[in-house]
Amino acid sequence: MLRIGPVQLDSPLLLAPIAGHTDIAFRILCREQGGVGAAYTDLLNSRAILKETERTLDLARTNEFDQPAGMQLYGNSDDPLPEAAIWAVDHGAKIIDINMGCPVDKVAKKSGGSLLLRDCGNTTMLAKRIVDAVTRHTNGRVPVTAKMRLGWDPEHKVAPILARALADIGIAAVTVHARYTVQFFSGSADWNAIGEVVEAVPDIPVIGNGDVTLPEHVTKIMQMSGCTGVMIGRGALRTPWLFRQAKTLLDTGTAGPEPLLGAKLDVVLRHLDLSKEYDGEERALTRMRQHISWYGKTMGHVKPIKESIRLATTFDDAKAVLLAARAEFTDFDFPAVALSRTRHDPHIPTVQHDFLDLTCRNQSSE
Ligand SMILES: Cc1cc2nc3c(=O)[nH]c(=O)nc-3n(C[C@H](O)[C@H](O)[C@H](O)COP(=O)(O)O)c2cc1C
Repeated sequence: MLRIGPVQLDSPLLLAPIAGHTDIAFRILCREQGGVGAAYTDLLNSRAILKETERTLDLARTNEFDQPAGMQLYGNSDDPLPEAAIWAVDHGAKIIDINMGCPVDKVAKKSGGSLLLRDCGNTTMLAKRIVDAVTRHTNGRVPVTAKMRLGWDPEHKVAPILARALADIGIAAVTVHARYTVQFFSGSADWNAIGEVVEAVPDIPVIGNGDVTLPEHVTKIMQMSGCTGVMIGRGALRTPWLFRQAKTLLDTGTAGPEPLLGAKLDVVLRHLDLSKEYDGEERALTRMRQHISWYGKTMGHVKPIKESIRLATTFDDAKAVLLAARAEFTDFDFPAVALSRTRHDPHIPTVQHDFLDLTCRNQSSE
C-alpha cells in the first residue's frame, strides 16, 4: 500500500492532474469506479489562489466524495507558494503537490512548472519554504509532494538528484512523468529511468507516470522501475474504470474485466450527470462535447453517438442520445459497474439482445 507521509492511501493508483479535464465531477467519477488512491486538482496558480479568483475557486473545489484530495500548485520562488499551500489546506487539501513538470510556455517560460527543473538549488529552497509552512500549519498532518519530469532535456536528467534534495528537506513523495520537458508528450515514457529516481530516494515513495493505459502497464512500470505508486492521466480520460481493473490485477494477479459497451455508456451517463450536479447543464454539455471523443476511443464504431453529442444543443438532447444508445445494451453488463442512479432511471427501456451478437460487438471494439 502507498503511504504519503501520514496519509495512507487505499490504492497505489493515482489520478493525474489533467488541466481542463480532471475537475471535481471527473475526479468523483473515477473514484466511484474504484481503485483510485488519490486524485489531484489541475494546476493552480498561487497568486490566483490568494486572490480567490472565480476560476481558481472553481478548480480548487473538493468535497467529502473527493478524498483524499490533492491540490497542485505552481509558481516560482517569487510567488506566494507557501501562503497558497496554507490556503489549499484550509480549503480541503489532504496532500499539497508542487508542479515541476508543466512544459507549456505560459507556465514554464516564466512562472514555474518545468522551469523549476533548471535550477535545482533554488527549487529545493522553494520547496523547503512550502514544506515548512505546511508542516507548521498542520502539525505535520498534510504532506507536500512534487511532480516532475526527468529533466529539461536528456543532457540534464536531474530527476534523481532533485528528488534526493527534495526528500532531504521533507518532501513526502515524488511523481515522475518519465519524459523530458523538450519532449512535451512525444516519444514514449522511459519507465526504466524512473528506477534511477527510486534508487536515489529509497526513503520516500516514487510514483511512476507516463503512458499507462492498460492494467498490465501498471505492473510493468512497477516491475521495471521499482516505483510504489502509479499515476494515470490520459488513460483515465478514455477509461475511468482502469484504476479498478488495475487494482484488481495488483490484488489478485488477474486484471478486472473490461466493461461491456452498455456499462461504458453508464459511465458516460454518470459523467454527464455529475457534471450537471457540479457545474450545471450548460457546462456539462460543453464538457461532454469535449470529452466524448476520449470515451469513443474504447467503444468501437460509435461515430453516430459522438456526432450526435457534438451536435446536441441542450443537456437533455445529449442525455437522450446516450440513453437511447444505452437502451440497446441493457442486459449483458457486469453488475460490478452498475451505477444505481443511472441504472434505475425509468427512462431506460430494456431491449432483448442476442448474447453472441453483443459479445462480438463488444470484442470488436477493443
Ligand atoms: C491536456 C493535459 C493537461 C495536463 N495538465 C497537467 C497539470 O495540470 N498538472 C500536471 O502536473 N500535469 C499535467 N499534465 C500531465 C499529466 O498529469 C501526466 O503527467 C502526463 O499526461 C503523462 O501521463 P499519462 O501518459 O498517464 O497521461 C497534463 C497533461 C495533458 C495531456
